[in-house]
Amino acid sequence: MQHLTIQNHQIPTLGLGTYSINGMECTDAVSNALDQGYRLIDTAQMYGNEAEVGAGIKASPTEREHVFLTTKVLTENFTKRNFIPSVEDSLRKLKLDYVDLLLLHWPDSDEANKLALDLLLECQNKGYTRLVGVSNFTIRMLEYAEEHAPIICNQVEYHPYLSQQKMLEYLGEHNMFLTAYRPLLKGAITTDKTLTQLAQKHSRTQGQIVLRWLMQQPNVAAIPKAASATHRANNLNIFDFELSEDDMQTIFALNKDQRFVTPSWSPDWDK
Ligand SMILES: NC(=O)c1ccc[n+]([C@@H]2O[C@H](COP(=O)([O-])OP(=O)(O)OC[C@H]3O[C@@H](n4cnc5c(N)ncnc54)[C@H](OP(=O)(O)O)[C@@H]3O)[C@@H](O)[C@H]2O)c1
Repeated sequence: MQHLTIQNHQIPTLGLGTYSINGMECTDAVSNALDQGYRLIDTAQMYGNEAEVGAGIKASPTEREHVFLTTKVLTENFTKRNFIPSVEDSLRKLKLDYVDLLLLHWPDSDEANKLALDLLLECQNKGYTRLVGVSNFTIRMLEYAEEHAPIICNQVEYHPYLSQQKMLEYLGEHNMFLTAYRPLLKGAITTDKTLTQLAQKHSRTQGQIVLRWLMQQPNVAAIPKAASATHRANNLNIFDFELSEDDMQTIFALNKDQRFVTPSWSPDWDK
């Protein structure tokens, strides 16, 4: 498994996203993913599957210290009363003493974010998480967040149709990394003509081309979701080939600033 070194921490660059994988399917997917060689698993309070993710980690012979586990705190829990108990509840469900990375899932008002960042830091000081970060934060929000907590990552939507160049520049300058969610466009990468041509050229799948493109960028990790074991194996099998600089630029040129994850609580992305 390839790793990023950020702030002296080793972060696996390819992980398994678990949104919408539930029940026994989730436990089996996590356990099997670890057996396949995945070392980063992404969950969230919002996904309602922390217990199953934890059971999957337990079911795998992979030792806990070799798993990098991320979970995320729901915005509804950004209150003094709820935040820490909600993280304790996540740990109870996971049946673990700590997670590796704890994120604020979506930003709220500046005031609520500030409180949540203080509480995030408190969770780190209590040993509930090794590292802290945010998700779906804009650059303006990151500037502020960094003053309050040692943020290491921003998890955002990133794929060939949505450029994150400004965000990547900012994160790089501030020694943080970007975790790309929705990297496979929920599977829609298979219908893109350019990606299909590149896949044919390299005798790979479109998914492998996109994930390889992400892996060849500095400070980028990605968490494709795959309930199917075949998809998981396919997505992991990307460390034995390389895209040329021309191939990389061809994929960058697919950008159309198209965002697919736009819930009503999204921030103003341009600020
Ligand atoms: N922080 C946030 O706000 C946020 C928002 C969205 C997502 N996320 C995280 O990011 C993860 C990934 O994003 P996502 O689930 O939205 O979308 P995604 O990873 O882009 O796409 C997942 C879909 O692609 C399919 N797929 C997987 N590998 C494939 C392959 N090699 N070829 C063709 N299709 C393939 C999967 O099918 P099967 O499942 O049938 O294998 C699934 O339908 C989530 O699971 C979650 O952990 C975070």
